[in-house]
Amino acid sequence: MGYETLKVEISNHVALIRLDRPEALNALNSMLLSELTKALVAAQDDKTVRCIVLTGSEKAFAAGADITEMAQKSFVDVFMGDLFGTEVDRFMRIRKPIIAAVSGYALGGGCELAMMCDFIIAADTAKFGQPEINLGVVAGMGGTQRLTRAVGKAKSMDMHLTGRFMDAAEAERSGLVSRVVPAKKLVEEALAAAAKIAEKSMVTVTAVKEAVNQSQEMGLREGLLFEKRLFHSLFASEDRAEGMKAFVEKREPQFRDK
Ligand code: HXC
Repeated sequence: MGYETLKVEISNHVALIRLDRPEALNALNSMLLSELTKALVAAQDDKTVRCIVLTGSEKAFAAGADITEMAQKSFVDVFMGDLFGTEVDRFMRIRKPIIAAVSGYALGGGCELAMMCDFIIAADTAKFGQPEINLGVVAGMGGTQRLTRAVGKAKSMDMHLTGRFMDAAEAERSGLVSRVVPAKKLVEEALAAAAKIAEKSMVTVTAVKEAVNQSQEMGLREGLLFEKRLFHSLFASEDRAEGMKAFVEKREPQFRDK
């Protein structure tokens, strides 16, 4: 399928989705978010796809929601239209793993989009920020909640109240990103991580994604019970039997997603 604001390539079981509005530093307008939702649902439905990588350009992952488009809207427009609510809900329902590969600016909605992914690999040029305060709004796609869970209250407050940017080294130190790589190697490294994930059983991968995401929603006691039940239930999968048998037989497992 052709998109105006994205490029999608599928190879080796990985869908690489590249945000592509260079004239606006990949600012998230309604067309981009609607196309992104379609591309993600298509990747979810495509049985050959086992992992998704979401990236932008060298200069910007995304510089936030499109301010020119938002500037025209009234309270009633955004409230009744539930601005970005539907897109965020659909994004969060994708069950396949999504890696954000962030180079350059990830600001406002761009930072929030990266945080909606399962983990972030950052280029050494990455800059994260929640500068909505400068526009007279607060984050609206999860920034106050997800950034706070990722980096703690002190840094999150600092970022949201001052609107300052965090560089890649600080983001790694703070737990916002899982690794930092040279900018030139960003997509290669993200695709390599995705390829590693694509080798695993999709049954187990889906369970891991659900369990880790539940840690962001539940208290410890419920989360531990959720994990233990998932662990127990995976003993019903053929891939669990194969994984353990392969270890005992000192060979590579042959997973069949069963
Ligand atoms: C629309 C944007 C944009 C944005 C950049 N552009 N960010 N257009 N929405 N968020 C456009 C610029 O207008 C400019 O267009 C072109 O992209 C290049 O940007 P420059 O500013 O000329 O580049 P530079 O000087 O390098 O500065 C880069 C920058 C700056 C620091 C990223 O562009 C910037 O501060 N952008 C806004 C960041 C921001 O406030 N994001 C939060 C948005 S609110 P022209 O046509 O002039 O070349 C948000 C809320 C989410 O995200 C909540 C959702 C519910």
